[in-house]
Amino acid sequence: MDIYVDTANIGHIRHCAELGFISGVTTNPSLLAKEDPSVDVKQRILEIYDLIGGHLSVEVNALDTKGMLKEADEILSWFPDATIKLPMLPAGLAACNALSKQEIPTNVTLVFSPTQAIAANNAGATYVSVFMGRLDDIAIPSSAVLEDICDIWDIQGYESQIIAASVRHPIHMIEAAKAGAHIATVPYNVIIQSLKHPLTDAGVAAFTADYEKMKAARS
Ligand code: E4P
Repeated sequence: MDIYVDTANIGHIRHCAELGFISGVTTNPSLLAKEDPSVDVKQRILEIYDLIGGHLSVEVNALDTKGMLKEADEILSWFPDATIKLPMLPAGLAACNALSKQEIPTNVTLVFSPTQAIAANNAGATYVSVFMGRLDDIAIPSSAVLEDICDIWDIQGYESQIIAASVRHPIHMIEAAKAGAHIATVPYNVIIQSLKHPLTDAGVAAFTADYEKMKAARS
């Protein structure tokens, strides 16, 4: 399972690029606004693109197909390998289908059910983003929904990539990997949290102390 970072924070993306195991970035209007509501979106997106050098999903804001396609054109004029993120609405599916016919990568976002996921795949989506945390928030077990979607992908032989999104904690990452999601897009703090283990810290501390002991004994 590939790991993307779900953020628009430049410092966090810079650190993720250094870590060496993060292969993409997903953004959305809320993540951009959280960093700075007055942000120049084009400039911020290009800064992110320069840093990550991998997958970058950029979301449209229009709610009609024509408007979505116009925004997609604008994003693609910023950098041609953009993945266009479209909402799971009838208008978004129509835009997805039009872009897929031009072989432009698309990410259908705000998917919460197997039937929505099937529609996104059939509209030609490259990526289908299934939101975990927001399902759990309304007491629908997200792991069961994601497992159903991944099972359907296996049975049907679908080729679009399932992104586990709205990830809130490392257990979501494990559940996504076990279900068979191709990618998890994860907030920076959860990525960092997922790397920690008290036994790793204790082990490093003990090895360092013993190394220092040997160094002192030799001097
Ligand atoms: C996915 O691409 C979205 O940007 C994101 O995962 C939304 O997560 P949230 O539910 O924590 O806002």
